[in-house]
Amino acid sequence: MPSTDPRYPNLRVFDHALIQHKLSILRDTRTHPEDFRALLNEIAGLMVYEVSRGFPTRRSTVQTPLETCEGRALSQPVTLAPILRAGLGMTDGILRLFPEARVGHIGIQRDERSREPVNYYTRFPKDVADGPVLVVDPMLATGGSAVHAIDHLKRLGCRDLQMVCLVAAPEGVQRLRERHPEVPVFAAALDRQLDENAYIRPGLGDAGD
Ligand code: PRP
Ligand code: URA
Repeated sequence: MPSTDPRYPNLRVFDHALIQHKLSILRDTRTHPEDFRALLNEIAGLMVYEVSRGFPTRRSTVQTPLETCEGRALSQPVTLAPILRAGLGMTDGILRLFPEARVGHIGIQRDERSREPVNYYTRFPKDVADGPVLVVDPMLATGGSAVHAIDHLKRLGCRDLQMVCLVAAPEGVQRLRERHPEVPVFAAALDRQLDENAYIRPGLGDAGD
């Protein structure tokens, strides 16, 4: 189970040994790009296993080789909303758990001078609001990109939204709390702070690159 922090009631941090082990390798400058990609996907999958715990299900009847029994099936379509580009790096790992999930994309580039998000692409399934939506991005820095993505999804009617990131800065968690207090933020780590370039410290550098 992820842990909570009284300073940030919207945040859940995964202190699971395996996630922390993989995150430490991911942060290491000696980790090669192909290992970085694999680890990003593995951590995303491990996190979403827990994030999806409360997804709505309905009863179903299953015919086993010997008799029928009662089962449960996910009752609503799940949509992944990776924030391009870096969010794409988490998508395959989550799709391994939810092969039937739909994927919608939102392309957001943080303007490095103003630090404000600039949206350059958006495409979602037309019934995206019919089920849970996981907004995925490895980095939650100022929170501008995540707030922008969630604003957009709410305008499409989405109500069951969760933010899944790897490394979160306190500033980003706080901004999300102010703008979207009901949206839980799941992270593998709450890092110390943003630096003067609004990069997360200790962080893991430029995740998209
Ligand atoms: C990074 C990251 C987030 C954003 C976080 O993307 O993947 O989307 O910055 O910063 P914020 O919380 O201050 O908005 P970037 O804009 O570098 O684009 P990229 O994924 O294409 O590299
Ligand atoms: N975007 C990144 O890729 N890394 C950061 O630390 C902040 C924004």
